[in-house]
Amino acid sequence: MLAVCALLLSAKVLAWEGQVSVTTPNTQMLLHAWEGGDLRVAYYGTKGATLEELRNAGDELNASALPVFGTVDMVQLPALQVQHADGDLNLELRVKNYELRKDGNAALHVFTMEDRLQPVTVKVYYKAYSRVDILETWTEITNNEKKPILLKRYDSGHLVLRQGDVWLTHMHGDWAAEAEPVMEPVTAGLKTIRNTDGARNSHLDAPEVMLSLDGKPQEQTGRTIGAALCWSGNYELRVNTVMRREHHLYAGIDPQSSEYVLDPKQTFQTPHLALAFSTEGMGGVSRTFHRWARTEGMLHRGMKVGDMLLNSWEGLYFDIDEGRMKAMMDDIAKFGGELFVMDDGWFGDKYPRNNDTSSLGDWVVDKRKLPNGLKALTDAARERGIKFGIWIEPEAVNTRSELFERHPEWALQTKGRELRLGRGGTQLVLDMTNPKVQDFVFNLVDTLLTNYPDIAYIKWDANASIQNYGSLYLPKDRQNNLYVDYHLGLLNVLQRIRQKYPDVVIQDCASGGGRANYGLLPYFDEFWTSDNTDALQRVYIQWGTSLFFPANAMACHINHCPYWNTGGRVIPVKFRCDVAMSGRLGIELQPKDMTDEERQQCTRCFQDYKQLRPIVQTGDLYRLVSPYDRKGVASLMYVDEGRTQGTLFVYKIDNYYNQPLPRIRLAGLDPDATYTLTEKNVRVGQQPCSLSGKRFTGRFLMEVGIEVPLREEYASRVFELK
Ligand code: GLA
Repeated sequence: MLAVCALLLSAKVLAWEGQVSVTTPNTQMLLHAWEGGDLRVAYYGTKGATLEELRNAGDELNASALPVFGTVDMVQLPALQVQHADGDLNLELRVKNYELRKDGNAALHVFTMEDRLQPVTVKVYYKAYSRVDILETWTEITNNEKKPILLKRYDSGHLVLRQGDVWLTHMHGDWAAEAEPVMEPVTAGLKTIRNTDGARNSHLDAPEVMLSLDGKPQEQTGRTIGAALCWSGNYELRVNTVMRREHHLYAGIDPQSSEYVLDPKQTFQTPHLALAFSTEGMGGVSRTFHRWARTEGMLHRGMKVGDMLLNSWEGLYFDIDEGRMKAMMDDIAKFGGELFVMDDGWFGDKYPRNNDTSSLGDWVVDKRKLPNGLKALTDAARERGIKFGIWIEPEAVNTRSELFERHPEWALQTKGRELRLGRGGTQLVLDMTNPKVQDFVFNLVDTLLTNYPDIAYIKWDANASIQNYGSLYLPKDRQNNLYVDYHLGLLNVLQRIRQKYPDVVIQDCASGGGRANYGLLPYFDEFWTSDNTDALQRVYIQWGTSLFFPANAMACHINHCPYWNTGGRVIPVKFRCDVAMSGRLGIELQPKDMTDEERQQCTRCFQDYKQLRPIVQTGDLYRLVSPYDRKGVASLMYVDEGRTQGTLFVYKIDNYYNQPLPRIRLAGLDPDATYTLTEKNVRVGQQPCSLSGKRFTGRFLMEVGIEVPLREEYASRVFELK
């Protein structure tokens, strides 16, 4: 697992008034632990509360921080269960020691516990950031027994809440319809959210949830907790309400088919669970996660803005050749873009990649399509003053490929069982638990980047679930470890790549948004938000995705209309541009097929976006009117740190005669400052609307609001505030 590289600052054994306060700038978790006793959690919320106050208010929680099977009271669920070498299923953890360390911009609180009977050590970590209100928690389990033990359940964290009008929000979806926020009251009993895809984990239900503690979730008010499991594999989140006093959230790797075998002297570190608490509703939690992502959680992009690019996929699909690639580079350069990405279709020798039925694994240039190789393309990009990027799908193989002919044993499978085939009827997943496969994947990236140092961007795709549950590499008594070791293998490769290539931009794609998670984002710069580029549906998808992920991580591309994915829907180019401008802007179509109006609008959009981009991509997000509230519009805005500048987006998503539309009330501004609104990306052939050039105080904009002129169907406006 990831090494904990922490500097020992001070180590103190609490002997033992036993209180530990884990604090971030505005939040706090209160724990109490006595040497030889249990580690218990008393509070998580706004900073400043003392145990005495909580006790006096009758509000102190007193629950095990890590309920273990064997000693939890009958009404709680265990977060950790181990089967010892001798068959014993119990744990009785006793705190042995507490240490406080410094770890970068965070304080690391470490509680070491031991089983009373068997030699198993469990460490519980709380990492509290000093500049952002995020707290991470995870555990480490060490097997000091003589034989392997079985981790039957190994959650990363457990959270206890006072029972009340608590609501749960989680993201539900599917391919091309990712991240629909589903909100429901937490009722008695158990609610489970899980994902069992094996290789990806955010298409169907995502590993992040919010808990609104003051009734129905609100954007700007109410105490709200956000929890994100930083893991790319199968997971299980459980919300359990068993008695009238408490709700419990448990989050961790899904133990189904993953009862992990841990060898003697080995330590297993669970994925981190990142937690945020805010009194500013869901918006407050989102902004906290975004800040954390930019400063700690996805370090490669960090505060950097992403390039405006053209991706060849929806414009050409597999019809790649040198002439078309160069023509597309000409077009993106003319629009004022900065990067061209050649998507799928460029590789394969014996089996050319002309469709999705072959060639994955054969990462050699198809000379029939690109006779002068990749060098001709990277040179062509440089000549045009843009960067060059390339698509790969490293963890996959087709049965019709030279790789599969050479190494059929590298695909996940079980001896004697018929292969279940994925995309194209031939796709399989490579066995990332196998170090040889890990080397193969590392070498693919290493060779590309060594041979073509001008490659500035890689789109790393993953288009298959694990459908064949078995590894020919893992021994028969370690097959249980496959789901977990697959992802540890993947992380190992990504770490090697990042060590050698810290600066190349890598997009995390998995049939669209199948891998939008904080387990992988430390190694990537952004993710492909969805394979659905229909601008209307993107308003919804990007809305849900923004609950946890910042705009500079969300790739948003202008598409071609009519659009096949939504039954041939036609949306004006202005609306398509405005929706893509609210994330990391790109374009994904065949420029040759564009009308003059479309070309002009896109050029204008690129020009204006260049100026707005720092605020959109690194500013604070305020979601103003939700598309899910069915008010006819959706609106959101970004504000810079000093609250001196902002960008406002308004989209008309329904259109009726005599339709009342809500006033747009802004947020996050300085009430006493005066802002001038300037309309941007004005529709080609039209003048800026009547609001453009007008001045308002922040107070007026936030309390009274503005009526944004939106007459025609799919009308939309973008304003700069200064
Ligand atoms: C996946 C990706 C697409 C595209 C195709 C190529 O579906 O999500 O963006 O790259 O693969 O085959």
